[in-house]
Amino acid sequence: MGVKLTQLCGLALFVSALWGADPPAPPAGLAAPKWPAGNPFSPAKAELGRLLFFDARLSADHSVSCASCHRPEHAFADPRPASVGVGGRKGARNAPTVLNRAFGSRQFWDGRADSLEAQAAGPLLSPLEMANTEADLVRRLSGIKGYGALFQQAFGDAEITLTRITQAIATFERTLLSGDSPFDRFQAGDQAALSPPARRGKDWFFGRARCALCHSGRNFTNEDFVNISAGRSNPPDEGRFGVTFAKADWRLVKVPSLRDIALTAPYFHDGSAATLEEVIDFYDQGGVVAENKDYRIRPLRLSPAEKRDLIEFLRALTGSSWRQVRAPREFPR
Ligand code: HEC
Ligand code: HEC
Repeated sequence: MGVKLTQLCGLALFVSALWGADPPAPPAGLAAPKWPAGNPFSPAKAELGRLLFFDARLSADHSVSCASCHRPEHAFADPRPASVGVGGRKGARNAPTVLNRAFGSRQFWDGRADSLEAQAAGPLLSPLEMANTEADLVRRLSGIKGYGALFQQAFGDAEITLTRITQAIATFERTLLSGDSPFDRFQAGDQAALSPPARRGKDWFFGRARCALCHSGRNFTNEDFVNISAGRSNPPDEGRFGVTFAKADWRLVKVPSLRDIALTAPYFHDGSAATLEEVIDFYDQGGVVAENKDYRIRPLRLSPAEKRDLIEFLRALTGSSWRQVRAPREFPR
């Protein structure tokens, strides 16, 4: 009992050193995210979520954690075109970043989850990702004493359920905010924050290249679903159609945020564009011929210099506010 108490006190100190009583203040360029009434912020829940996010014991064979595919050093995205789960099983889609997902109205490329809580259950139970079952996951975590103490701090008692696991992970994710980029500092009045090419690229982005028709607002997405004709899989990814079964949704995917885009290659829902240069060339030629392609995707005829400027602007969207997030040094035992 004495041992347990010291452990708990040590833990409490650890938690308060990392997290304040309130959610972290939003970095320059962002508004504060909305916290759902049913899952408000608490420092204990955020820390529990961080541990769960990085803990490979949540997968069937202890080999894969959320962070295996959402890697901090790649701005929480996956450098592999398609993610690899338990047993080397491969999905068809590229893992997007989990930064700024607090601002997303729908999760996944096809928007099939309407909250971060609902999203988190997906990979835990997907046979292509962490391949666990609810019963097994709960049994396994309940067998780790340290987790019991942490669930107690976060939820008032030590019971471990899938709902609580996903609530803790979602709480951690809502603290992963990307802002305070050179672009944000420029917007706040620091003229020197953007180089002359990046400033010109900003004008193309919001002007003649028409990128902001879809990549708009503080998070550079209008949260809409669009078919820009990207992707090389055959047959093509059905996108939003797989959720709504509406013909108009055939191949539509969610407009992704462009924050930290320089760090999250490869690009598009199937990781089929290796570089930003490829992405810009794709837009410049008006995408490819495809059924149901959005009318706004048409040739831009940018000069090589204009393309370089655009890329300089995209590089200026790299945030600094999430860099302090690290994998835990130890996990509960
Ligand atoms: C095996 C690799 C893999 C693992 C493990 C994994 N993910 Fe993902 N994640 C993906 C892929 C691939 C997608 C996109 C899938 C889709 O859209 O259908 C995704 C999508 C997401 C999204 C939605 C992002 C967006 O822009 O809509 C969030 C949030 C997320 N994952 C969080 C998590 C969490 C939390 C965990 C751990 C519980 C996790 N992921 C584990 C590969 C992975
Ligand atoms: C009509 C809406 C629309 C317009 C206009 C548009 N985009 Fe996109 N953009 C999207 C969608 C949707 C995707 C995801 C497509 C996919 O993966 O199939 C995307 C993907 C991207 C990606 C890859 C993101 C990632 O995480 O993989 C980049 C980079 C990008 N767009 C930059 C731009 C730039 C630069 C412009 C202007 C030249 C532009 N976009 C214009 C809708 C648009």
